[in-house]
Amino acid sequence: MGLITLSDHLHDIAENSVNAGAKNVNVVVLENAETFFFSVEDDAGGIRTDMLEKIFDPFVTTRKKEIRRVGLGLPFLKQAAESTGGCVKVETKLGEGTKTEALFYKKNIDCQPVGDIAQTFLVLLLNEGIHWHIKRCFDFNCYEIDTDTIGKYIGKLDSPGKISLISEMLEELENSLIDKENE
Ligand SMILES: Nc1ncnc2c1ncn2[C@@H]1O[C@H](COP(=O)(O)OP(=O)(O)OP(=O)(O)O)[C@@H](O)[C@H]1O
Ligand SMILES: [Mg+2]
Repeated sequence: MGLITLSDHLHDIAENSVNAGAKNVNVVVLENAETFFFSVEDDAGGIRTDMLEKIFDPFVTTRKKEIRRVGLGLPFLKQAAESTGGCVKVETKLGEGTKTEALFYKKNIDCQPVGDIAQTFLVLLLNEGIHWHIKRCFDFNCYEIDTDTIGKYIGKLDSPGKISLISEMLEELENSLIDKENE
């Protein structure tokens, strides 16, 4: 557990949206000196009521056997967030989509640092066929990126050159948030 960063948790939850067939995913990551909060909202059709009762039980999964991993994403997230004094909330509308939110209190995170947020965003953006909208704030300093804007200025992320360009851009955006924080 201790090796999973907050970015890994975010990745895991966003991956749930991808696996559920989302076309649009809205990611919000809000951080300040005390807390780390993320929200992932998708249009993947929601979670059936019988499943919803069990999503926080370990090893409950509707994933196909061929896909790696085992149904621990949400139980791990809940355990990790609650162990810091935070919480997890899943809201779902059948036929529409799901919103998963998690709050962590940073002072109680001993072995789970925030991790590589820029890298996590990059990996998400590389999922083809999904429209991502990402908003990231540290205090009142924010940046936003979305698939349409990237498509307009860079095109499809289909070459190592374009991928490293977007990767550098994300690193810079992240660094500028932290720099502003330290001004
Ligand atoms: N956004 C979502 N839309 C639809 N179903 C979801 C969503 N998030 C979770 N679920 C359902 O909850 C189940 C449990 O999710 P969880 O993240 O705990 O495990 P998993 O994704 O199946 O496997 P793992 O996260 O370990 O790779 C999923 O298999 C899926 O059926
Ligand atoms: Mg999962």
